[in-house]
Amino acid sequence: MTAYTDLQHEIEAEIKAAADLSALDAVRVSALGKTGRISGLLKTLGSLPPEERKSTGAAINAVRDAVTTVLEARKAELEAAHLAQRLEKERVDLSLPAARRPRGGVHPTMQVMDEIVAIFAEMGFAVAEGPDIEDDFHNFTALNFPEKHPAREMHDTFFFNPDENGVRKLLRTHTSPVQIRTMVAGKPPFRLIAPGRVFRCDSDQTHTPMFHQVEGLVIDKGAHMGQLKWVLETFISRFFETDSVTTQFRPHHFPFTEPSAEMDVRCSWEKGELKVGTGESWLEILGCGMVHPNVLKACGIDPDEYQGFAWGMGVDRLAMLKYGVPDLRDMFAADTRWLAHYGFSGFVAPNPASGLS
Ligand code: DAH
Repeated sequence: MTAYTDLQHEIEAEIKAAADLSALDAVRVSALGKTGRISGLLKTLGSLPPEERKSTGAAINAVRDAVTTVLEARKAELEAAHLAQRLEKERVDLSLPAARRPRGGVHPTMQVMDEIVAIFAEMGFAVAEGPDIEDDFHNFTALNFPEKHPAREMHDTFFFNPDENGVRKLLRTHTSPVQIRTMVAGKPPFRLIAPGRVFRCDSDQTHTPMFHQVEGLVIDKGAHMGQLKWVLETFISRFFETDSVTTQFRPHHFPFTEPSAEMDVRCSWEKGELKVGTGESWLEILGCGMVHPNVLKACGIDPDEYQGFAWGMGVDRLAMLKYGVPDLRDMFAADTRWLAHYGFSGFVAPNPASGLS
């Protein structure tokens, strides 16, 4: 009996001396583990005469229970101490300034795209879309670009390698092919805009290989150039948030319109800041015209029954003008500092009622 009591005291002393949880666990293993001291004693029971076995077994179990109780108490004590230490050490100083999180934002191009859609949606225009990868028919032929016409080269087209039939797909150079796709798929009248990405092999301060356009198309029996002018002037007035809009139409050439024009808006540049409405300068905004009869024919529409007007404008350029971005290439440099400066909140969608920007 004395031998067990000594062992019990010895182990209890070790438990008390254990300074941390891992030291305590080492004591537990050395006492109660498979080859531990108390487990070793239990193994000797088998060699005892049966009459001694019961009382000796009970005595060893009592030691085991006593040690287990002390062990658990010490464990709880050490865990509490460990927690207290962590709470002390890991205290958060709420008076410190919070770490700055990288800030996302709506890109000015997308903001302007949404503004344009909001303005035209209010005027009753539908939004149409087409693929970025186009074929020659939709991007050129159906839009009345003659075969081998230099305008095809002027568009600095990105062509894909020819497929097994020798057909070269291309990245659309403008959003005008969406006109073709919509007219082929539906029945007139049409009143739509088509926003999207376009691609040209060109890069400098005012050109990037990828940029954005919005196409507009109205086809109806009596659609005429006066309506085109009203639609575009109304758009400009809403977009630049000014009532005084003066425009001029300069004759131009596009294969898909006849007559064709470029539209300029009267403006001034004061200290580098653009003001639309008054002034001595003219700002070129878009290309437009009356849809060429050949384009209507290519889409299965009778030009003697229907006519219409169309326009195309550069979205990134409008964003630069409205929000004062100096270099187009920065728009696509994927620089979060730039976006933090020029970006818009994702929680305020532009709409004509509560304001566009
Ligand atoms: N597609 C022309 C371009 O990218 C822009 C354009 C001009 C579109 C006149 C039109 C239009 O629909 O009528 O330069």
